[in-house]
Amino acid sequence: MNFPTQIESIAGHAVADLAQQFGTPTYVYDAAKIVERINDLSQFDVTRYAQKAASNLAILDLVRRHGVLVDSVSAGEIRRALAAGFKAGSDEPPQIVYTADIFDREALDLVVEHNIPVNCGSPDMIDQLGERVSDRGITLRINPGFGHGHSQKTNTGGEQSKHGIWHEQLDNCLDRATRNGLTITGLHMHIGSGTDLEHLSQVCGAMEKAAHIVGPTLTSISAGGGLPTPYREGDQRVDIAAYFDLWDATRNRLATAFGNPISLEIEPGRYLAAESGSLIAEIRAVKQMGKNLYYLLDAGFNDLARPILYGSYHPMAVCPATEPGRLRPEQEVIVGGPLCESGDIFTQEEGGFVCNRPLPKASVGDYLVIGCTGAYGSVMGSNYNSKPLAPEVLLLDGKAHQIRRRQTFEEMIGAEIVPEVEKE
Ligand code: LLP
Repeated sequence: MNFPTQIESIAGHAVADLAQQFGTPTYVYDAAKIVERINDLSQFDVTRYAQKAASNLAILDLVRRHGVLVDSVSAGEIRRALAAGFKAGSDEPPQIVYTADIFDREALDLVVEHNIPVNCGSPDMIDQLGERVSDRGITLRINPGFGHGHSQKTNTGGEQSKHGIWHEQLDNCLDRATRNGLTITGLHMHIGSGTDLEHLSQVCGAMEKAAHIVGPTLTSISAGGGLPTPYREGDQRVDIAAYFDLWDATRNRLATAFGNPISLEIEPGRYLAAESGSLIAEIRAVKQMGKNLYYLLDAGFNDLARPILYGSYHPMAVCPATEPGRLRPEQEVIVGGPLCESGDIFTQEEGGFVCNRPLPKASVGDYLVIGCTGAYGSVMGSNYNSKPLAPEVLLLDGKAHQIRRRQTFEEMIGAEIVPEVEKE
């Protein structure tokens, strides 16, 4: 992948125009990139978008119009899916699936009310659902005993992870399902986020073993998400065709063994959304601190938490506000935000170690674009330091559509209540 460090535009839209129209910081998504990534996965029977990566209704609507179905991990995500036009119900394949390790009471009520299929990540969920409904199919999220992610915090397999049903408890879960009048119709394995093909490929064997324990009631298997995506200059996109072939062979062997077709699902979040997104910020201070030069932006970890949480690397580019077109020399800089916390640095490694990055010379008023922020960017934003949530803009068919406006101060404090106290 090629990420230049000096840019003028995003998908044909001048960065300065976007910044002036929507203010900074602002998230911008290039719809064409999401659609390209959707098309990469067309060999799978079902692409089920893990909406946690970027769940704006306009993005859900976009993926829905391109044939993608959706995964929801909370009551809020079920409501979003419904609001974006996905239909509830258990038709095959279901448009909305609830995948989680617990039911909170609201989520349980919603899946019962709307007949939304459940992918159970804990044995207790089988009993809790069974108390409310019977004669339904359920799927099980299995923890195969190993996992891998771009960070230990995104590894969802093995004993150190809270996720999924432990693979050795599958027999127990079959009994629970039978006792509750539920049938296990699918298995799902998601071993982590931002992993690699080597680890992902090991899942096929674990899936096949688990599928034979369940037997011919199975009608679908899901490879989960986790597909890596390029973030650094030179990163290659994964070989989707090779990955599909491994899963297709697994599915075909199971279909032959069980004598019925098995549908093959994939559940990407990052892969569909990451590359489409850019966070546009303005450089508000350029300061020398001993040996180090800092660019301080009006965006902080309240807007993009991945660097402080995981030491994640995001490509960055300066967009000059003056003399467009003139290439500027690069210098080593540290890029940080406005928050009152030392960790508010976008150029850091896991463990909080600040690092330098070669970026073009810049001054106050120039823009800085943080790339590959479409997944787990805006959705992980917060109001820390009483900063409003940033707007989102979708670049679609040559137009820049605002898909969320900036949160107002009144909205930010709107749910807060100061108790009436007796006057002294
Ligand atoms: N399916 C399940 C059950 C998941 O838990 C996840 C992600 C996905 C699919 C989608 O994974 P993906 O294809 O995006 O790798 N905030 C972290 C990522 C957390 C992922 C949580 N689960 C980050 O910024 O890297």
